[in-house]
Amino acid sequence: MSQPRKVSRIVVVGTGFVGSSYAYACFIQGLCHELVLVDVNEEKAIGDAMDLNHGLPFARTPMTIRVGNYSDCKDADLVVLTAGANQGPGETRLDLVAKNARIFRSIIDSVMENGFNGIFLVATNPVDVLSYVTWKYSGLPSERVIGTGTILDTARFRYLLGQAYHVDTRNVHAYIIGEHGDTELPVWSLTDIGRRSIAQYLKDGKGPSQQELDNLFIQVRDAAYHIIQAKGATYYGIGMGLARLTQAVLENENSIHTVSCLAQGEYGLEDVYIGLPAVINQNGIREVIELKLNESETKKLQHSATVLSEVIHSALPSQKT
Ligand SMILES: NC(=O)c1ccc[n+]([C@@H]2O[C@H](COP(=O)([O-])OP(=O)(O)OC[C@H]3O[C@@H](n4cnc5c(N)ncnc54)[C@H](O)[C@@H]3O)[C@@H](O)[C@H]2O)c1
Repeated sequence: MSQPRKVSRIVVVGTGFVGSSYAYACFIQGLCHELVLVDVNEEKAIGDAMDLNHGLPFARTPMTIRVGNYSDCKDADLVVLTAGANQGPGETRLDLVAKNARIFRSIIDSVMENGFNGIFLVATNPVDVLSYVTWKYSGLPSERVIGTGTILDTARFRYLLGQAYHVDTRNVHAYIIGEHGDTELPVWSLTDIGRRSIAQYLKDGKGPSQQELDNLFIQVRDAAYHIIQAKGATYYGIGMGLARLTQAVLENENSIHTVSCLAQGEYGLEDVYIGLPAVINQNGIREVIELKLNESETKKLQHSATVLSEVIHSALPSQKT
């Protein structure tokens, strides 16, 4: 008789807008066997589990979706952290630090006390800081703590470039790196559409002007503010980004995404979680990819890392080196 296939389990901690959108994306794509929902507001998690289960007759693959607790983390492949306070209108992601670092202390302790030995995916903001906090509090190797970093910003960038050049966004190769926030930067020098560089487009006088491209990046950087103003929170895009990372891990894809990961000398950066392109597989972050940035991009990335580093060390003063 063949061995039963291992049951893949994901525990989602925090079934608010982001956690429930992620759960829905996983469910629709049939990404795992078991999806366990944990929230301090248990009523909300119960409601979500009921609502999702009512979609089972229409699902691609069967899935067990249930409310659980931290003991479910023991055998989980992934614990996905989407719990915490949300960014209010006019509030920056960095304003959330103190509030969410406190919440993370208790969550991560509870996850680890139950013998978790898988991979953390972190989406709660400020995501770079909380990914670092998760790494430190959990004691897991850094390759097993992945923050969503600039995965969403890169997606927004590719979407808008696809629109601007009238090309399928999947043929747009472009990265936003750095902080998931105000100091992030576009890697214009390596951006291409179907192997034709943006610089070439500009030289040929085709597509948007430099001014229009500069405005496009501002739209990317400030997208969350506009969405929050319009409807209070952003969640579908990041829900799909988290699902994409889930697939990269569970299917051992070795695919490349701009995630928040620990810099250990890459780009001259040390001891900071920051959005960089990295290869993701079943072990987590296999490798951070070091791009050949131009001088201005390098400076901007270093500035972004300095800003993050200061916040990280103010959130975790005892970690200062
Ligand atoms: N990384 C990204 O690109 C990105 C994008 C959008 C939102 N976010 C962030 O995701 C986070 C969640 O956003 P949201 O819109 O879902 O917020 P939300 O308020 O709708 O949901 C947060 C959930 O966390 C739960 N929670 C709070 N403390 C908890 C605890 N100690 N244990 C378990 N559950 C707890 C709350 O009950 C709530 O259900 C925010 O920090 C937000 O800024 C990140």
